[in-house]
Amino acid sequence: MKKWVVANWKMNGSLQLLQDYQQAFGNSENLIVCPPTVYLNQSTMLTLGAQNINEHPKGAFTGEISASMLADVGIKYCLVGHSERRQHFGEANDLVREKAELCLGNSITPIICIGETLEQYQAGKTLEILRTQLKECLPDSKDLWVAYEPVWAIGTGLTPTTEEILSTHAFLREKLSTVTLLYGGSVNENNAESILGIPNVDGVLVGGACLDIDKIQLIYQTSASAN
Ligand code: PGA
Repeated sequence: MKKWVVANWKMNGSLQLLQDYQQAFGNSENLIVCPPTVYLNQSTMLTLGAQNINEHPKGAFTGEISASMLADVGIKYCLVGHSERRQHFGEANDLVREKAELCLGNSITPIICIGETLEQYQAGKTLEILRTQLKECLPDSKDLWVAYEPVWAIGTGLTPTTEEILSTHAFLREKLSTVTLLYGGSVNENNAESILGIPNVDGVLVGGACLDIDKIQLIYQTSASAN
């Protein structure tokens, strides 16, 4: 099976970057581009995903976007529970679960992000934290994806060792036999090949490096040849 690349622009990028992606990737398979919400309704051959939804189905929540609106414009994937949402917007596990449920109810695949902080990692608590996050964040469904993103690896240039990713993903696979499992956190054009080569890593979630069209092309090329 071909491995996945999910590009999370965060609050970066422009219409020009979307056009660059369109030119570079056209309708390439196994690539999901998550630009800011304003770009989700652009006519493009790319598979677009959202970065967030509101936890309510609709109503008086000025400035917010619902899952049904995303579905309305053809969006099939949405990041849920990214560590930046948890950190800057106070999103806790139960809220993450509510959002994931709303996605599923609107035929959108939630890509649920989980991962330990540096302190938890250093205390050897990674699996314990992940076990709790899986229990509290995941609806009972096989139609979701999970992205393992150690918080300390996001945007820092640091990554776990290959052995660490291997054992963490083996742990996740044991619990989530058929779920697509992504790794995220400082994936770049230099480490993508080794990370994508790790068993039970079905793809990568890329932040910083995806803002550079040459880098994301290199990562995508690596994914296309990984098994
Ligand atoms: P990064 O971000 O690749 O810049 O570490 C990954 C993410 O936040 O999904």
